[in-house]
Amino acid sequence: MKDKILSMLKEKENEFVSGQKISEVFGVSRAAIWKYINKLKEDGYVIESLSRNGYKLVSSPDLLITQEIEKYLDTKYIGRNIVHFPSLNSTNTKAKELASTDIANGTVVISEEQTSGRGRFGRQWISPKFKGIWMSIILKPDMDPTNASNITLIGAAAVTEALAELGVEAKIKWPNDIILNNKKLGGILTEMSSELNLINYIIIGIGINVNISSEDFSKELEEIATSLKIQTGEELSRKELLANILGHFERLYEEYINENNLNSTLEVCKKSSILLGKEIQLYCKGVLVTAKAVDIDEEGLLIIEHKDGRIEKIISGEVSMHGLYGYKQ
Ligand code: BTN
Repeated sequence: MKDKILSMLKEKENEFVSGQKISEVFGVSRAAIWKYINKLKEDGYVIESLSRNGYKLVSSPDLLITQEIEKYLDTKYIGRNIVHFPSLNSTNTKAKELASTDIANGTVVISEEQTSGRGRFGRQWISPKFKGIWMSIILKPDMDPTNASNITLIGAAAVTEALAELGVEAKIKWPNDIILNNKKLGGILTEMSSELNLINYIIIGIGINVNISSEDFSKELEEIATSLKIQTGEELSRKELLANILGHFERLYEEYINENNLNSTLEVCKKSSILLGKEIQLYCKGVLVTAKAVDIDEEGLLIIEHKDGRIEKIISGEVSMHGLYGYKQ
C-alpha cells in the first residue's frame, strides 16, 4: 500500500492529492493513509500535508528502489525487476540464491548497505549505507562458460561510460577495477554457476563508491580507495548513475550476446585502460613477474610482453602497477 500511495503522489508531484481521493482509490481509511505517509516520511520523502488539501510530494530521497529509478531507466530487461533491500550481507550472495529460482533474466539485486560485501580474492568490500551503489545483476545467457569473463569487461565498460556522462574520466584496470586519480573507485565481482558447456547463471556484482567520505574509510583504505564525492567534492545522485550504468550495460551485453560482438566494450576498455603501455607486475604460474601490458585482444585477454620479448596472453588474475594503489613488492 505504501508503494501504491507513493506512485499516486509521484504522478502528481508538487500537486496536492486529497486524502479522500487516496482513500477512495485504494479503499483504505484516512487514518491508515496517515500511517503510510509517515512511513514514507521516515524513508526520506518530503511530503507536505494540509488538512484541507491533502498531501503533496515535495521531494524524493536518493533511494535505489524501482519507483525512484524507473524515470531514468531506458532498458528492456536489465533492471526492470529490482529486488531492493535496506541491508544485506552481500548482494552477490543474495543474487546467487535468487538465480537458482525462475527469477527473470536481468533482475538486479540492490542493497543500501552490505554487512559482508565481497571483493575478489576473498577480500572485504566496504559498503556503507546510502553511500554507494552495491548491486548484482542476474544473467542467464546462452553462452559458452569459457567466455563468461567478458561479462566483467562489459560491466567495467558500462560503468566507465556512465561515469563519462557525468564528466568523470575513470580508468579501467583490466579486468575489473574502476580507478579515479590512481585510487580505486569501484570494482566488479563476477560469479558463475555452470555445467561443462552450459551456464546456469552469471552474477555480475558491481560496487561503486559514490558518496563515501574519507572518514568512512579506514586509514589504510583511504590510501588506496576513493569515492566520487571525495574526488568531485559533491554529493551525486546514485539513482541516475545506477540507471545509466544499467543502460550502458544492456547495450553492450546485447551486442555481445546477440551479435557475438565485443568491439564496443573492447574499445572502451582499451581507451580507458590504465595498464596499456605500462610496466606491470603479476603472478604467472605462481611467480611474480614484471612485464609490459601491450594490448587487450579481441577475446578480452590481456597481452603482455615479458622482458625477454616473449608475448603472453593473460586470462585472469591480479595485476599491479607502480604509482597505483595497493602496489607491493
Ligand atoms: C573487487 O574489486 O574486488 C570486486 C568488488 C565487488 C563489490 C561488489 S558490491 C556489490 C556486489 N556484492 C558483493 O558482495 N560484491 C559485489
